[in-house]
Amino acid sequence: MFLFLSLLVFFVPLEGDTSPITCYNDQGEAVDWFYIYKLPKEHGRKYPKEEGEMYLLLEKGSEGWTEGKVTVNDSTGALGRTVGQLYSQAKITEVAYILYNDQKPPEEFGDRWIDNSGSRGGHTKGVVLLDKNQGFWLVHSTPHFPPERQEGEYYYPSSGVTNGQNFICVTYPLERFQTIGEQLQINQPDVYDCDVPDSLASLVPALADVCEKRHVYGHISPDVKTVANRSVTLTSKDGTDFISFAKGAAFDDDLYHAWVAPTLQSDLLVQFWIRSTGILPSDCSQGRKVLDIKLISLGQTITFKASQDHSKWAASPVDQEAGGGWVCVGDINRNEAEEKRGGGTVCLQNPVVWKAYRSAAVECESCEGEVIQC
Ligand SMILES: *[C@@H]1O[C@H](CO)[C@@H](O)[C@H](O)[C@H]1NC(C)=O
Ligand SMILES: *[C@@H]1O[C@H](CO)[C@@H](O)[C@H](O)[C@H]1NC(C)=O
Repeated sequence: MFLFLSLLVFFVPLEGDTSPITCYNDQGEAVDWFYIYKLPKEHGRKYPKEEGEMYLLLEKGSEGWTEGKVTVNDSTGALGRTVGQLYSQAKITEVAYILYNDQKPPEEFGDRWIDNSGSRGGHTKGVVLLDKNQGFWLVHSTPHFPPERQEGEYYYPSSGVTNGQNFICVTYPLERFQTIGEQLQINQPDVYDCDVPDSLASLVPALADVCEKRHVYGHISPDVKTVANRSVTLTSKDGTDFISFAKGAAFDDDLYHAWVAPTLQSDLLVQFWIRSTGILPSDCSQGRKVLDIKLISLGQTITFKASQDHSKWAASPVDQEAGGGWVCVGDINRNEAEEKRGGGTVCLQNPVVWKAYRSAAVECESCEGEVIQC
């Protein structure tokens, strides 16, 4: 009996979930990073069911897009497993999290928060989740995603079904989250749910600040950070260098033409929500070509118009010294209003990722306003 009790004492704590907080793939394996292209409902190929919930996945080590095993609404897919860690009751370690979205989940699920329609906060969407060792930062384009933690389980909202959407998940060590917090301070996100417990607040004070000021960014406030923009290298847990570009309202210019293209020393093909008002035409001024994408094709059978795609990504048109071109995935569109909104993009120079995105850009708008091959 004594032996039994001491075994119980020693082993019970180990039965909790000690798996690391990380990005997961469709097989449930921890991955350093992944990209998800959620396909629009109409994309030229007929599926028997779940139209609008299919996705393509590209993870570290893969050779290109692979078809998602399940749907984006399934908690056993890469997105569901990754974001689902937020709702897992089994986690024994204390976690910090920030959910932000300029289109937060519907009021009936979050009546604690102010209505942010007509918000002055950033046009920015994402999930940060970490414990005292590591975590992930997911940047995406889906309205009203993900559900608040108190909802208790993962699901994908109907608001993200009709159009295409993009997700970039990167696993980072704890040290990186202070920098990520600083980038978010610049972005002025609309935080609709967050918690940074005391045990973590001293390790990542910038994230604690973003959580505390969650109501502030939505309003005009004198103490909102005044840094207009900053780019930083964020090295993933396994050593991949990403560049995070974050701008605030004061930046007041096109993210891609004014900043990303010259910094990366690359022309850019940009996919964004062209059904927003005041969209910016392709821009070839100042020696940098930034072209708006019109038609997208992923593999031989999947084709859709940019107008069916809510994703915001950019790719170099040409390979750069065989190191692969750049791919950026983020939350800012090319339109007049978003020049004055916070937001940004996360860029990577990698041959496989570049090929996957570059080849997807089929038709673009030339600077003369004609439709051309990208
Ligand atoms: C997601 O799954 C839940 C539970 O099965 C279901 O109630 C909901 O309608 C689904 N949502 C979408 C967008 O398919
Ligand atoms: C802010 O953006 C400008 C381009 O508009 C760029 O020249 C400058 O280096 C950026 N600042 C930082 C801190 O990255």
